[in-house]
Amino acid sequence: MNTPTWLRRARQALLTGAAAVALAAGVLPGTTATSQAAVQGPCDIYASGGTPCVAAHSTTRALYGAYDGPLYQVRRASDSATTDIGVLSTGGYANAAAQDSFCANTSCVITVIYDQSGRGNNLTQAPAGGAAGGPDSLANAYAAPVVAGGHEAYGVYVAPGTGYRDDNTSGIATGDAPEGMYAVLDGGHYDAGCCFDYGNAETSNTDTGNGHMEAVYFGNIKVWGYGTGNGPWVMADQENGLFSGVNAGYNAGDPSVSDRFLTALVKGEPGQWAIRAGNAQSGGLSTYYSGARPNVSGYNPMHKEGAIILGIGGDNSKGSSGTFYEGVMTSGYPSDATENAVQANITAVGYTTSSGTGSLTPGSRVSLQATTACCTSDYVSHDSGDDKVVISPVTSSSSATTKADASWIVHRGLANSSCLSFESANASGQYLRHYNFELYLQPLDDTATNAQDATFCPTTGHNGQGYSFQSDNYPTKYLRHYDYTVYVASDGGSNAWDSATSWADDTSWLVDQPWG
Ligand code: AHR
Ligand code: AHR
Repeated sequence: MNTPTWLRRARQALLTGAAAVALAAGVLPGTTATSQAAVQGPCDIYASGGTPCVAAHSTTRALYGAYDGPLYQVRRASDSATTDIGVLSTGGYANAAAQDSFCANTSCVITVIYDQSGRGNNLTQAPAGGAAGGPDSLANAYAAPVVAGGHEAYGVYVAPGTGYRDDNTSGIATGDAPEGMYAVLDGGHYDAGCCFDYGNAETSNTDTGNGHMEAVYFGNIKVWGYGTGNGPWVMADQENGLFSGVNAGYNAGDPSVSDRFLTALVKGEPGQWAIRAGNAQSGGLSTYYSGARPNVSGYNPMHKEGAIILGIGGDNSKGSSGTFYEGVMTSGYPSDATENAVQANITAVGYTTSSGTGSLTPGSRVSLQATTACCTSDYVSHDSGDDKVVISPVTSSSSATTKADASWIVHRGLANSSCLSFESANASGQYLRHYNFELYLQPLDDTATNAQDATFCPTTGHNGQGYSFQSDNYPTKYLRHYDYTVYVASDGGSNAWDSATSWADDTSWLVDQPWG
């Protein structure tokens, strides 16, 4: 096989050795909107440390300084055509604009997450497995927008039912062979389902016994293991066990984590494994466990099989949620020093959630103010105690929580990228959606209806002020407050909130600077 150009260049880049590793931190200015010249990626650092990447997956950026191939593939709903999304420049960030033009006026799913290591370990739609049928669902390509290196990009939003896998890999650890892995995740998007994983799993899609997996897990399921607080926790899925330390169940060394952007690492070698994590926006890594294999039979030696999973358990358990931005798997047990240099490379990306304020431009943060005379101090807010959506007063002296509850991140529409969706500013991965024509704030499921329920098309405000927001799947209905609760409503109709009285005012909203 011919060595691809980018891989040859990557190898040449490695010849610069230690100096290149030293440069790895801080070379990607987080706020620069222009593309950078070739820089070091995490996989260059792992290679310099003697533990090269054997799989490298990201929808946001190249993970080698010399990579200029495709990052992922999307498929659009309108005609089922697919296209590859590449990088803006060699070693740089995703060309999200290519997705936006390809997916204009329709929706897209992520069909392939390419392996950048040159080994062909691409992640595609996971097949049925022992725990659940399949094939699994594919991620909505607009559900996890992010800003990376100052550029708009899209992560992989895993709703329950979504999963990616590669059962036929090259170079991934098997048996008790050493390996490392990390994933950069949305630390606010998780649940207690089984099992949002990234890493090594069974090639048969079934549970073949203890020690047949070694994967990063993130979430707050307590069935197998947990740490301090209420979660979520980073744990290692080693099959029939999410381990937070040497014991099944509780281990005091594994804390709940709360970073919006989370770096989560797991590594294992004969008789030894570790969990490490850190804030992917700044600072270093902490070691939550490093030591002997679990004191439960079947995990020493390990029986790793070398398939790769994302968003699911080894047996295709697919009841969990999470968001993935980038991750790799290595051959060999990386040193802490190598991982620390990788973390510095990750923090230098400057992952962040939004890029502007006060407008309906995707990436902007806004508050939505009612225009009806009763209610001009009221803003679209999510309730703290439940998932209902209301209008309620916010002032400069309101609490930070009240302000954040009334703040929204504007995204391209989940069911129609030419319209809009609204993610809560303080509940990551949760979107405004209607159900029985009432508004709720909820994480997405994997259905097309849910994406439509969460998509609104802005028009000029019906009373001449601001904007009205038309429901994507019920075009006669618009976002409306009625008795301080938010609905989608038509101008006269069978529901109480379809009342024609003050419909034009109740469906007109000012788009303001965000309160939080
Ligand atoms: O180890 C936890 C889960 O148990 C695995 O992911 C799955 O294969 C099994 O159901
Ligand atoms: O809100 C109207 C419909 O109610 C939604 O489209 C659907 O999710 C629910 O049945």
